[in-house]
Amino acid sequence: MKILITGCAGQIGSELTLELRKIYGNENIIASDIKEASKSIMKSGPFELLNVLDKEAMRNIIHKHNISGIFHLAAILSAVGEKNPMFAWNINMGGLINVLELGKEEKLERILCPSSIAAFGPETPTENTPQETVLRPTTMYGITKVAGELLANYYVQKYGMDVRGLRYPGIISNGALPGGGTTDYAVAIYYDAIKYGKYTCFVNANTQLPMMYMPDCLKATIDLFRADKKDLKRFVDYNVGSMSFDVTELANSIKKYIPNFEIDYMPDYHQAIADSWPNSVDDSCAREEWGWKPSYNLDAMTQDMLKAIKIKLDKGEI
Ligand code: SER
Repeated sequence: MKILITGCAGQIGSELTLELRKIYGNENIIASDIKEASKSIMKSGPFELLNVLDKEAMRNIIHKHNISGIFHLAAILSAVGEKNPMFAWNINMGGLINVLELGKEEKLERILCPSSIAAFGPETPTENTPQETVLRPTTMYGITKVAGELLANYYVQKYGMDVRGLRYPGIISNGALPGGGTTDYAVAIYYDAIKYGKYTCFVNANTQLPMMYMPDCLKATIDLFRADKKDLKRFVDYNVGSMSFDVTELANSIKKYIPNFEIDYMPDYHQAIADSWPNSVDDSCAREEWGWKPSYNLDAMTQDMLKAIKIKLDKGEI
């Protein structure tokens, strides 16, 4: 199977591309983004510059490389989306509709387009948020995620397409930095702990959100894409949980390894976004239907993150 990835230079795309190349072979994973990606992506396999709003350019890439699957990751995240709502709407919905329409027209075998915990809103139950629940987000990013779930499901029902998706929690990683999300504090805190021994957080101490470490994110994404279709009862909106902690617990985990680490708080516009999202999610459908099971807990992730970021610092990369 030849697969196109949009948004390959982003936080998830930059690692997912390399992981998929290991599984499917370098030449079968066509990475694309609106800008050049990391050296490791550019060197290890095919890359195409692509603006996801340019449907015909995307079609040409599908033809050129004989693509039959797409991971559609190009999107604007919540914080940037609140600064520029129309931009978020245009990129997120425009990109998705192009991918879905091309999926239909070019008879693609399978598409994966992620959703997010941002699909939930202040009226959603916050603890162990059910799979089927109130979806009334208050951010433009969340609105594009709910609309995206509905749209993707429409293509599944109306055209019999195979479109899959999962609601990512905040993703924590030490490769490419996240750009413009609300959960970015849970990545920045590790970098600042290593670089400066302290961090100023843009949400308050008791802000709790569902989070996931990148190796688990890659596993969830790839396992859902490769799951046997006959095992799936739903397609586009699987809750996937892993861990859930507030900022104090996150800081305390770091203090176990950097005892002098200090944190202070200057909540800003991110706070309202974070407050509108759940504390934890019920992911039993993902567990039952395609065997989802995370591997990392908070302390295991903290040890791994601190080690990896220290290496980057020692090499002069940050
Ligand atoms: N990490 C995303 C954000 O913060 C949520 O999906 O916007």
